[in-house]
Amino acid sequence: MEPVARLVKVSIPNYLSGLPIPDSIGGWFHLGIKDWFSLIPPTAVLAGLGYMSYRAFCPKGRPPSCGRVNLAVKKDVAKVVDTIDVEDIADKAVFCRCWRSKNWPYCDGAHGAHNKEHNDNVGPIVVTKKK
Ligand code: FES
Repeated sequence: MEPVARLVKVSIPNYLSGLPIPDSIGGWFHLGIKDWFSLIPPTAVLAGLGYMSYRAFCPKGRPPSCGRVNLAVKKDVAKVVDTIDVEDIADKAVFCRCWRSKNWPYCDGAHGAHNKEHNDNVGPIVVTKKK
């Protein structure tokens, strides 16, 4: 443990205290080329830690969809817009609001699996005609 303790208590603080970090914003404009090069390794480490943190919240395989609602419906268009003529609805129509239906824009029950997997509570919108 002594090498680790020495690294944490002596080596890293000595390294950080030797970095040419200015005391003011204007000081950044007075740094030389050698100063900027000496800031590259700690900047790379910070960027790596930031990226690893990002990956921790958006695990592998999910970054393209992380934060997206629509994962598969009409991905070839800029905006998914569907028009349904109310006169074409017989008595009732059940429309998907979870974006997981394979029968878009109608609900196919896929919201059940989504809700179970993500502890969510989304469901369809049911449109009925008055008689
Ligand atoms: S499948 Fe999306 S709300 Fe039912």
